[in-house]
Amino acid sequence: MLEYEDIRDLVENSDTPFYIYSEKTIKERVEKLINCFKENSYQILYAMKANANPTLIKTIVEFGLGVDACSTEEIRLALACGVDRNKIFYNSDCLTKKELNYAIENNVHITVGSIDVINCLVIHHPGVTISLRINSGIGAGHSDKVITNGESSKFGISASDIQMVISLCSAANITIEGIHSHTGSGELLTDKYIENAMVLIELSSSFNDLRFINFGGGFGYDYINDNEYDLATIHSLLNIMRNEYAINENVNFIIEPGRYVIANAGSLVTQVCSVKNIYSKKYVGLDTGYNHFPRCFYYNAWHDIYNLSSQNQETEIYDITGYLCQSGDVFARQRPLAKTTVGDFICIKDVGAYGYSMSSNFNLRTKPAEYLLKEDGAIKIIRRAENFDDILSTCELD
Ligand SMILES: Cc1ncc(COP(=O)(O)O)c(C=O)c1O
Repeated sequence: MLEYEDIRDLVENSDTPFYIYSEKTIKERVEKLINCFKENSYQILYAMKANANPTLIKTIVEFGLGVDACSTEEIRLALACGVDRNKIFYNSDCLTKKELNYAIENNVHITVGSIDVINCLVIHHPGVTISLRINSGIGAGHSDKVITNGESSKFGISASDIQMVISLCSAANITIEGIHSHTGSGELLTDKYIENAMVLIELSSSFNDLRFINFGGGFGYDYINDNEYDLATIHSLLNIMRNEYAINENVNFIIEPGRYVIANAGSLVTQVCSVKNIYSKKYVGLDTGYNHFPRCFYYNAWHDIYNLSSQNQETEIYDITGYLCQSGDVFARQRPLAKTTVGDFICIKDVGAYGYSMSSNFNLRTKPAEYLLKEDGAIKIIRRAENFDDILSTCELD
């Protein structure tokens, strides 16, 4: 947990709000993954969509991880961060010819999740190598907005179309090097992950040139109780399935978590602008909003929030709100907080994943700075705050 002493100089000498990430926590999380999925037959990818700050990506890939990129911009950034192109897996269901060409020219792994894209490859790129994203029907996630398998999900190719797709590819000399499926994001239990893996493993015997099976990410983070996600069960059940189905030793098992790596490494530090009573409720108003951290607004997500600077032992119940011109801009309702006054610093915890990466300029608000709390206690700026000129830089004023 971030302490006021860790960042005293920073808060007293720079502007809030800002994101700050713990280098130590990121490294610990990556090490947990590596120590669990330790056999050479595993490949670990970091899902960049969770947080694409270049310094953080470099910190993560230094351990040998590859990346799951979901846009050509993420591919470009991964390459700029020094990620070996052979460790970049491009995973986008809905992509333009231009994006497809970019990925092919840059020689990264491409996962295709729709038959229209395969038809396009058949015509324009016969002979390429791809993997297939399969909608196994088994979805899970912390919100229905992030469930990526099943009848209500837009992702992947249905398992029932796979034989037809294999024939289509074979006729155009397209090699299928891998199969992939991702249940969704943020599920705390492991059973759906395993069920989904089972479907992929059963399907794998239909493919002759398979080099990997990618089981996706989605390892949950318990924002409320901090309970550890059960990596060990996933690892041991995947190994059991590998043995039972006699999966060829040349076929790697890939996992691609994002949230697991970075969620609890990030805090959003913000300052109180107003404390007021309206009817019977007390409101704490912050100098940030869902433009900076959208998870509470989008998903009704629960995040621990505490008063960083107040020593007050007395607590009060507040609605903790943002500064945007929208009534839904609320981080927490009826939350106990140390008695708070204007000017106090408030910390929103565990915002490392899907925080900055989902931020926006709504209300023309600029995006905040990002800092890294290094292992030795030093603080480094890793992205400056935006200014008004940044926002206007894409517009014509005349
Ligand atoms: C294909 C794919 N892989 C990996 C991830 C990462 O998920 P998480 O951050 O929950 O691990 C996502 C998230 O949406 C995804 O769509």
